[in-house]
Amino acid sequence: MKLLHVVASPRGSRSRTLTISNAFLQQLQSKHPGTQVQTRDLFAADLPPVDGQNMDSKYRLMVGRPIDPGHADSWAHIEALIAEFLEADVYLVTAPMWNFSIPYVLKYYIDAIVQPRYLFAYNEHGVPVGLVHGKKMVLVTTRGGDYSLGSPMNAYDAQESYLRQIFGFVGITDLECIHAQPMDLAADTRASALQDATLAACRLADELADAYTVA
Ligand SMILES: Cc1cc2nc3c(=O)[nH]c(=O)nc-3n(C[C@H](O)[C@H](O)[C@H](O)COP(=O)(O)O)c2cc1C
Repeated sequence: MKLLHVVASPRGSRSRTLTISNAFLQQLQSKHPGTQVQTRDLFAADLPPVDGQNMDSKYRLMVGRPIDPGHADSWAHIEALIAEFLEADVYLVTAPMWNFSIPYVLKYYIDAIVQPRYLFAYNEHGVPVGLVHGKKMVLVTTRGGDYSLGSPMNAYDAQESYLRQIFGFVGITDLECIHAQPMDLAADTRASALQDATLAACRLADELADAYTVA
């Protein structure tokens, strides 16, 4: 199993989100030692530009034209990032909630990799269809407040809905979410929310390891 871990917290070992994801990975690797983990730390990454030549290439691809040969070197950086993404069987996305949604680096990463003819294509009716099939995604988030179903802030959660939307658009519909919340209101609720989320992450790692062991 090849797993791509996309990290969108800049807080390293102080990140609560990463702490939960690391527990998930540790459990997965203990149950399924064949798991190969590739980490894409977005705050440390030199992401390719999503403007200039690469923007021109995107617009050409959208209308079925080849990219300008003079832009190929620049586009190769986008292609390398896409190749890393497509190589994985399973994705682990580690993302705290920022302003009800995702940290800007994760949006930047999505803007770089979601390209026509690579992650989606237009069918004969001009309708976009996803090209990424048979993959699983685990999304781990932590939030300062509480956005759980039935809570007053639930409608403000543009994080899970957006990630389901964009990754579903490219074909990744098997998406499991683990949220730890609220993190910033009181120490006792934080501790129990972290513990619950870590347990849920380890259970999910067990299920994933079992699925891959049977397969
Ligand atoms: C720039 C920024 C924006 C944030 N926006 C929100 C928000 O909209 N809602 C919320 O509940 N918490 C928000 N938080 C709090 C974080 O989601 C919370 O502290 C989280 O646990 C941080 O995760 P980490 O420890 O992995 O970095 C924000 C934090 C930062 C730094």
